[in-house]
Amino acid sequence: MSKTIIAPSILAADFANLEKDIKMVNDSKADWFHLDVMDGVFVPNISFGMPVIEAISKHANKTLDVHLMIVQPERYIKDFAGIGANILTVHYEASTHLHRTIQAIKAEGMQAGVALNPHTNVSVLKDTIQDIDLVCMMSVNPGFGGQSFIENTYEKVKELKQIIAEKGASTKIEIDGGVTNKNAKQLVEAGADVLVAGSYVFGSENPTSTIENLSELVKK
Ligand code: DX5
Ligand code: ZN
Repeated sequence: MSKTIIAPSILAADFANLEKDIKMVNDSKADWFHLDVMDGVFVPNISFGMPVIEAISKHANKTLDVHLMIVQPERYIKDFAGIGANILTVHYEASTHLHRTIQAIKAEGMQAGVALNPHTNVSVLKDTIQDIDLVCMMSVNPGFGGQSFIENTYEKVKELKQIIAEKGASTKIEIDGGVTNKNAKQLVEAGADVLVAGSYVFGSENPTSTIENLSELVKK
């Protein structure tokens, strides 16, 4: 069993002092940077885009996990590769030609992720799972940090784990939204490989030790 990956979400960082928060993550037990791009169309909020990610990538020394909450994400695959994204995740609900989009992401040298909204059944990925490096399972409705975790997620993780095993795929399962020390262990037991945590990390008094404690809690 491999180690659970911890991915702090920069959406909850201090945007006026990003360098400090990036350094904190660099020096912490975290594994990835989770970067949320929102377009105000696919989700009812706008976050940040390429110039900010490019600036972050100059300071970050860990994997850049970019989560696109935008319509027609295939338009920007080359741009995100060019600014240093290592993993590029598109939403199933925003991709008419998902298979083509996954191949295009890989052709740019990135790992391909697919995100599922809470209402989307995991079975829709049966025919593409072998091509997907990461499934980002939304455990809140995408668009905002700081929302409450949806309990039905555990069931979805178990179902997806089964599909991955049946197909002999090596896809990782990432949980995104409302992750805290209250649900982390149960999520990993259900089959999660990556935990995104935004407000739980950056809203805490000591983010470095919050990351460390979370990573200890889910040690396998
Ligand atoms: C929500 C984003 C999440 C968010 C998680 O749309 O995709 O990555 O930053 O934030 P928390 O951990 O605060 O729920
Ligand atoms: Zn996200």
